[in-house]
Amino acid sequence: MKRLEGKAGVITAAGSGMGAAGARLFAAEGAKVLIVDINREAAESTAQEIREAGGVAIACVGDLTSEAFSRGIVAQTVEAFGRLDFVWNHAGHPGPVGLTEASNADIELALTLNLRSVMFSTAEAIEVMRKGGGGSILFTASTSGLVGSKYSPVYSAAKFGVIGLARSLARAHAGEGIRVNVVCPGVTDTPMLRTFVRRPGQVDDSDKDLESLVTQRASASPMGRPAQPEEVANAALFLVSNEASYITGVALPVDGGLTA
Ligand SMILES: NC(=O)c1ccc[n+]([C@@H]2O[C@H](COP(=O)([O-])OP(=O)(O)OC[C@H]3O[C@@H](n4cnc5c(N)ncnc54)[C@H](O)[C@@H]3O)[C@@H](O)[C@H]2O)c1
Repeated sequence: MKRLEGKAGVITAAGSGMGAAGARLFAAEGAKVLIVDINREAAESTAQEIREAGGVAIACVGDLTSEAFSRGIVAQTVEAFGRLDFVWNHAGHPGPVGLTEASNADIELALTLNLRSVMFSTAEAIEVMRKGGGGSILFTASTSGLVGSKYSPVYSAAKFGVIGLARSLARAHAGEGIRVNVVCPGVTDTPMLRTFVRRPGQVDDSDKDLESLVTQRASASPMGRPAQPEEVANAALFLVSNEASYITGVALPVDGGLTA
């Protein structure tokens, strides 16, 4: 039996990176998946790839900084598949490098995409899941949600917030069969990693090329390499699946030992 057989749900930022890897994996394990992304081509490409592999996936294009869109992805999942078993709130934004240089707009975007928008989709999901007898909600935080981040204070604050939100909801909704967990990636080989390391102002060695900066960042982990997106997707699958039936309120680092 496949690990998500008969289940349906939604993954945000699933047009690329870990979200796309998760969508492919969840679908291969039997789930029907709504692929949410602001980038139409990316969302459709992930969905198409899944369908070509024999899975079920539908692209859903929109901007998660919009409250209406963020709330609406839950109804769209139910409309498309007739049920809602999981929500993986994966989308995020690196935010500004330093607090002293950050504008209100920089702070607003980072707080909105990482923290505020997931409250809307999750509120809708809880309403549906409590009527359906339960479900699994997963958030993506970061190792920056577990320890402070020198170059991303606003991002780190938002990701600490995501973990606080998840732990609170885990306690509040355990009795309704709703599990709420967090995956905390470390340095992971996706386009966002490249956005992180090339933001102006965070490194003194701006003469280095992008891939050298990525290698340098990854060398901070005891494993000395970045995670591949699939390695994070495997952890997400476990937390969402029934194998984690007695696990709620955890923030699981997938970081090669970075926070050990
Ligand atoms: N890559 C890393 O090293 C790393 C480490 C820790 C945590 N994270 C977290 O992982 C998540 C991002 O994952 P990734 O590295 O797989 O990224 P990625 O760059 O591969 O993909 C991000 C996707 O998000 C989409 N997106 C951006 N803004 C959006 C919006 N407003 N509405 C809808 N979609 C939007 C993009 O189009 C893109 O397809 C974030 O929550 C990030 O904080 C990443």
